[in-house]
Amino acid sequence: MKIAIVGLGFVGLSLAAVLASKNKSIIGIDIDEKKCEKIRNITIPFYEPGLENILKTSLKKNNLIISNDFSLVKNCDMVFVTVGTPQKSNGQIELAMIKKSMTTIGKFLKKNNNKPIIFIKSTVIPGTIQNVIIPILEKNSGKKNNNGFGIISNPEFLQESNAIHNTKFPHAIVLGGEDTKFMKRAETFFSKMYSNVPIIKTNYQSAEMIKYANNSFLATKITFINQLSNICQNIPGSNIDDIARGIGLDPRIGKLFLNAGPGYGGSCLPKDMKALINFSESIGITPTLLNAVEKTNRDQINNIISLLKKKLGTLSGKKITILGTAFKPNTDDIRDSKSIELIKKLLKNNAKITVHDPKALGNTKKIFNQKIRYENLIVDALETSQCAIIMTHWSEYDKLNNKLLRKMKKKFIIDCRRVLADRKLDVQYYAIGLGKKI
Ligand code: UDX
Repeated sequence: MKIAIVGLGFVGLSLAAVLASKNKSIIGIDIDEKKCEKIRNITIPFYEPGLENILKTSLKKNNLIISNDFSLVKNCDMVFVTVGTPQKSNGQIELAMIKKSMTTIGKFLKKNNNKPIIFIKSTVIPGTIQNVIIPILEKNSGKKNNNGFGIISNPEFLQESNAIHNTKFPHAIVLGGEDTKFMKRAETFFSKMYSNVPIIKTNYQSAEMIKYANNSFLATKITFINQLSNICQNIPGSNIDDIARGIGLDPRIGKLFLNAGPGYGGSCLPKDMKALINFSESIGITPTLLNAVEKTNRDQINNIISLLKKKLGTLSGKKITILGTAFKPNTDDIRDSKSIELIKKLLKNNAKITVHDPKALGNTKKIFNQKIRYENLIVDALETSQCAIIMTHWSEYDKLNNKLLRKMKKKFIIDCRRVLADRKLDVQYYAIGLGKKI
């Protein structure tokens, strides 16, 4: 059985490498030949723990081909579409890439007599498969869905920095489509590959919506704890982590995604929230709760700025160190990172910014160039600083001690992740979610 994966970002490349490691014959296709060349030479264009190793093994085994040649889908029995659906300025998703790939795939489906299954993994708003994808494929292939090929919605739930583990051990498989022989084949394929993983079979629209429901629920859960953490800050002695532990033990709530911080970021949650809000409004529903989540998430950074102004007075000319620019630890991804948003606002206030991040300095430089200073060592990043703000919980920051902080001009820390909450440090210390010590 030959399987093509179209679009080699986090999702596509992780899937290609994992399936190939399970001895499937995989063709990874991406429109960008330079990117393909890099992947063939095991230079991955982003940092994802474990991906390099598994990719190396799969390429050595010769059951993974990486190419920009879409005609290779001709001989495939399955095609996974994992191209990006980025965000337009109005919050809608941009379908240009998926439309283009479906047009090309459609043309080569004309010559494919294997009756392949086309799995849509890209995140698309409900109705997109029915109204956009199927018509493009049918027009360009001259074949009918559920006859010459079968389209199935198969949303992906992997998290960056955990992509390989999530691809190997998904919590569920969602298959959206009609009850046809294609659906039966898909079910057999997934149940063999992931025994004991629940398979949810539903129609296209519901499968598409599950992805948005998933991400908007996660965003809401994070925002809930962030809102409570803001309240806790004004309750002397209170501690948001104890509260999170307390409610997290209730099985109806669950302990994950209750880690209060500067707000959610990344390439998915903010984008999917905006797309869902935009979509709801377009079908006549005002999503009051989702709007409130979005607003609360935006306000998190303003709260940090207000605290800074309260403690430092004007920010103009003040030297501020940002520890962590990646949107979360163990990635170099800074897309929609709260840290980047904070730096932009601080620059508007004419603050002088120095940043440290173990992996994301390269990407951060692409945004700010010479406007800020970049340091590879924490101690250098803190030199002459008047305030350090811990934005991302990299394990490196657990090691912060008086020695590393010695060169700060004003020993003042805002800890958005409560990394140093239990330390005895000679600093003025404020943490998101901790009330004043009593
Ligand atoms: C998310 C979803 O989790 C995943 O299922 C989907 O496929 C893609 O989007 P990802 O973007 O990799 O994954 O990041 P995630 O781990 O969910 O974190 C998102 C943001 O929320 C980060 O900024 C993170 O710091 C923040 N977060 C997460 C918190 O502030 N607290 C938490 O408890 C969890």
